[in-house]
Amino acid sequence: MTAPSAFASVSALVRRETSMVYDEGKEYLVEARLTPLANAKGLGLEEYVARLAFDADERRKVIDALTINETSWFRDHTPYQAFTDAMLPALLEERATSRRLRIWSAACSSGQEAYSIAMLLDQHLPSGWEYEIVCTDISTQMLDRVRAGRYSQVEVNRGLPATSLVRYFSRVGRDWEIAERLRERVSVKHLNLAAPFPMLGTFDVIWLRNVLIYFDAETKADILRRMLPMLTPDGYLLLGSSETTLDMPADLTASWRRDQIGRVPAYRRASAMTLSRTGA
Ligand SMILES: C[S@@+](CC[C@H](N)C(=O)[O-])C[C@H]1O[C@@H](n2cnc3c(N)ncnc32)[C@H](O)[C@@H]1O
Repeated sequence: MTAPSAFASVSALVRRETSMVYDEGKEYLVEARLTPLANAKGLGLEEYVARLAFDADERRKVIDALTINETSWFRDHTPYQAFTDAMLPALLEERATSRRLRIWSAACSSGQEAYSIAMLLDQHLPSGWEYEIVCTDISTQMLDRVRAGRYSQVEVNRGLPATSLVRYFSRVGRDWEIAERLRERVSVKHLNLAAPFPMLGTFDVIWLRNVLIYFDAETKADILRRMLPMLTPDGYLLLGSSETTLDMPADLTASWRRDQIGRVPAYRRASAMTLSRTGA
C-alpha cells in the first residue's frame, strides 16, 4: 500500500469494528485483499479507502475481506476426541432429565467446526436427545456459507474422513452439501465477540477456538469475562491450541478453572466447580 495513512485508516476501521489488531507489517495483506474491492468500484486503493468513511456496504465488505477465516474439519483432532470421550459422557449423565444439549461455535468461520461437532453428536447421542448448535461470526459472508452448508472438493479434503463424507454429504455440481438433518440443528447469528453479547441463553460447551489470537490482551480478557455466564455451571469452554487463560489478569485465572482432558485443556467455571465439590 503506497500511503501509510490509508493503511492506518483501514487498521483503525478494523480495530473499531472487530477489535482485531492489524499492526504495521500487515500492509501487504491489506493491499492484497482490498485491491479487488477497489477494482470492482473502478477506484484506486487510496480513493477506495477514503470512500469507506461514508459507505457502510463497502465497510462490511472490507471487514469480510480482512477477517482470517482459516478452518478445517475436526481441526487439531484432540479437542474433538476429548469432546467425545470425556465431555459428552459427563453431559449425558448430567442432562439425563432434559436430554438436550446446546453448543456454541463462537467464531464459526465457514462452519466446519460446527458441522464436525454435529457429526459427532449425530453418532454419539442416544435416541430421544435433542441438540442445537449456535454458530456466530462477525463475517456475514462466512455466516452465509454456514447456512448454505456447501463445500468445495479442496475444503472437504481438509480433515474430513472419507466415511463422514459418504455418510453426511451429497454431491451438488462440483461441491458437497451437508445433510439436511445436520443443517437443521445449526442456527446462525451475526455476533461481534468484542461487543456485549445478545441474549443467547447458556451453553453446555462453547468452542471459542483460534480467534482470541487476533485481539489485544484487554479485549481477550473482556471476552473471557463475558463468556463466564454464557456457560452452564458444569459446562466446558474450549480454546485454540495456542490460546490460554493462564496469561490473563488474576480475576480471570481465578474464575476459569483449567481441567486437563487427555491432551486438551478445557476451561470450566471455577466457582460452580467449587460449589459442586463441596456439595453446596
Ligand atoms: C481463524 S477463524 C477460526 C474458525 C474456527 N473457530 C476454527 O478454529 O477453525 C477466526 C474467525 O473469527 C472471526 N472473527 C474475527 N473477529 C471477530 C469478532 N470480533 N467477533 C466474532 N468473530 C470474529 C473471523 O471472521 C473468522 O471466521
